[in-house]
Amino acid sequence: MKIFVKSGNPEQAADIFLPLYTDTAYSRIAEVYPALPAFGLERALTDFRAESGKTATLYNAEGSRLFLIGLGKPKSAGFSGVFRAARSVAVQLGRQLQPAASLLLSHLAGSAEAEAGLTDAFVNGLVSGTYQLGSWKENAGSEPHPLDGEESSLTLISAQSPEHFEDIASAARRGHLIGLAQKQVMHLVNMPSNLQTPPFLADVAREWGENHGQKVTVFSGDEIEANQLFALAAVNRGSEYPAQFIVMEYEPENAPESAPTVGLVGKGITFDTGGLSIKTSAGMYFMKCDMGGAAVVLGFMEAAASLQLPVKLVAVVPVTDNLIDARSFKPSDIIGSYSGKTIEIMDTDAEGRLILADGLSWITEKYELDYLFDFATLTGATVRAIGYAAAGMFTPDDALAAACSEAGDLAGERVWRFPLWDEYADDLHSDVADVRNLSGKPVAGGISAAKFLEVFTREHPRWAHFDIAGVAFGESEFGKHKNGTGWGVRLLTELTAKLTKPETGTN
Ligand code: BES
Ligand code: MN
Ligand code: ZN
Repeated sequence: MKIFVKSGNPEQAADIFLPLYTDTAYSRIAEVYPALPAFGLERALTDFRAESGKTATLYNAEGSRLFLIGLGKPKSAGFSGVFRAARSVAVQLGRQLQPAASLLLSHLAGSAEAEAGLTDAFVNGLVSGTYQLGSWKENAGSEPHPLDGEESSLTLISAQSPEHFEDIASAARRGHLIGLAQKQVMHLVNMPSNLQTPPFLADVAREWGENHGQKVTVFSGDEIEANQLFALAAVNRGSEYPAQFIVMEYEPENAPESAPTVGLVGKGITFDTGGLSIKTSAGMYFMKCDMGGAAVVLGFMEAAASLQLPVKLVAVVPVTDNLIDARSFKPSDIIGSYSGKTIEIMDTDAEGRLILADGLSWITEKYELDYLFDFATLTGATVRAIGYAAAGMFTPDDALAAACSEAGDLAGERVWRFPLWDEYADDLHSDVADVRNLSGKPVAGGISAAKFLEVFTREHPRWAHFDIAGVAFGESEFGKHKNGTGWGVRLLTELTAKLTKPETGTN
């Protein structure tokens, strides 16, 4: 989608998007856009309640269309209200839309800065809303979304003075690029594991990284054990594919001295049967989503590079499926790990924490990280605790927790903090190995998983673990059944913008 900013009138031929708050008066619109083509708008606004999720279509005598888009109350709409409304328009109106549209936002904004924020949110929603779920249908791609691709255009009709157009255009660019990265994340999560094998995911990382000149290294096959990644190797024993350990590095072109280095680790289980501690059929069906953490990390690397975000990033993604075979690892096995610690396997379905253990201890040994984040579809327990409205957040650092919460609220991708008290670690005691992979108690499963991970972080003071089992895959407008959400790209964009290089030494 090409994006333009101009003043004056919307083009006659294009569709016009007119987002509205519940309290937006006709007089305000007429004042900001006096030359709006005649659509009977004043009359229409006496009927239209701009509640969030509501839309209406007005036609004029020339056959042009103006879409009224409800955002709800200005106070409650925020970024995510605008994002959702725009996404909903793109999904619901779909093929009805024209490849050229004009967007009017100046009547909602008191300042150029506010208009830039609204532009970012709306464009982000519109672009992510062009996603199509049916990539694997026979006729896939034959009817792309009208607003997808280079042929389509969006013209922002701004009433700000032209000196602000550059800022508005760059906000639109930001929303556009984040939207594209979210679509890539959704696509990866939706791709099933017979197509998205571990080597396939490694190829995706190489391709995306190389597009942006990022350094990409992948260990696979024999290199996994040769590099002492014994916990990843153990989970991989039941697989027909070699495990992959993906490492990517990103540095902005003119990295400021103050740019912090952020480590990202993502769980890349391409399919989780549970292994010999096998899942039930109903629970297993969704487990193509178990590389959701890997997808967020790869998607954010993509967004960071295309936006040239001023942070240095190191991403580590351990990848395998968790299957059943005569060679599979078994409950009661004692396995090694990159850290040197031995792990007693209680349950082969607690596999995510094993591959993350190697990822976390590898990255903290090889790099001096100012911050360390991991993303994983780790436990059903966290979903039972807080449902689908937020990811579980686990961190020892109060200031970092506050920054993550603020970023999540801004992004409309909420996180909610759980405790990491040492009481929860007692149940991970093993008599025969250094630690066991399951607490064995039917309580606080998300926290004991996080306590297990903590063992492998070399006590990094600014580590945060995000359990995204409830948010990476869910109900959406894109389909009738659960699908990938793209959750986390926006959160990481907001979060990394808040981070500064800590004054005291790193880990
Ligand atoms: N991949 C699952 C967690 C999961 C659950 C992801 C629901 C997405 C949606 C994870 O590997 C797992 O199996 N966790 C077990 C842990 C248990 C064995 C301690 C669980 O949550 O039941
Ligand atoms: Mn599992
Ligand atoms: Zn899993």
